[in-house]
Amino acid sequence: MSLLIKDESPEKLIGEDGKRLDGRDLNELRPIMMEVGVIPNADGSAYIEWGGNKVYAAVYGPREVHPRHDARPDRGILRTFYRMTTFSVSERKRPAPGRREKEISMIIKMAIEPVLFLELYPDSVVEVFIEIISADGGTRCACIAVAILALADAGIPMKGLITAVAAGKVDGKLIIDCSGDEDKSGEADLPCAISWYNNQIALLQFDGIMNLEEFDKSIDQIIEALEKIRKLQEEALKKRYIDVRDHLKNYKPKVVTTNNIEEKIDSNNQKNQNGGDQTE
Ligand code: CDP
Repeated sequence: MSLLIKDESPEKLIGEDGKRLDGRDLNELRPIMMEVGVIPNADGSAYIEWGGNKVYAAVYGPREVHPRHDARPDRGILRTFYRMTTFSVSERKRPAPGRREKEISMIIKMAIEPVLFLELYPDSVVEVFIEIISADGGTRCACIAVAILALADAGIPMKGLITAVAAGKVDGKLIIDCSGDEDKSGEADLPCAISWYNNQIALLQFDGIMNLEEFDKSIDQIIEALEKIRKLQEEALKKRYIDVRDHLKNYKPKVVTTNNIEEKIDSNNQKNQNGGDQTE
């Protein structure tokens, strides 16, 4: 018996009933769940489950730039780190960041940077660490969606949200939100992000073959899908604020009376005097 796990690709990606292998219609998204504020140690964070993708984003900053020569006196800088855990894919991934991860880190940064008011933070850096726990096609899109939520959670001022999704072509049919199998075995993959404050494309990549008509139709389907995903992002953000509000409602500040303060000052003075005596 062979111990090797074979990375087999299915021959047909669309069944007789016109449905995809996971039962979806051609223009149907996978289930998406997002949560904001999930990592207490980070300045801002978010989590997304998008089909088989599971991704955390943690934001640190604005904080001092290291090395110092990277700092810009007129604005803050953004650093993004897209990382796949070794166990996120079927074959163990090497822990060191490869070329693909560096490239995806860069395109995430390029998509997000223009919507942030980084000019408010000269000499500072905002860092976004994105960890893929499980990958199943369209991770770059999931990462953009979750990274912008983590940045909003960190309170980094922004012009608006960014949302991303990939369209594709399998068995000659146009689809939306490609799964891992569809990504690997399909005829085309078209990840696209939109920045909502100006309705401009923030990311557009293309791999495969489509004619112009198919491309146009895919863009229409992408926009329709992006609007649905944006609503989920907004709901996740609102929920975070409702949670914080509820938490604050139950928060009772400790009352310190004026008498207590005077007593405290007296005892501090006393301590200082005693300390002073010892050093003389
Ligand atoms: O994830 P995304 O579609 O943005 O990027 P991709 O480079 O087109 O990768 C497609 C899929 O291939 C990923 O989502 C993973 O499921 C899979 N993959 C993998 O199995 N092993 C890798 N080292 C990289 C990607």
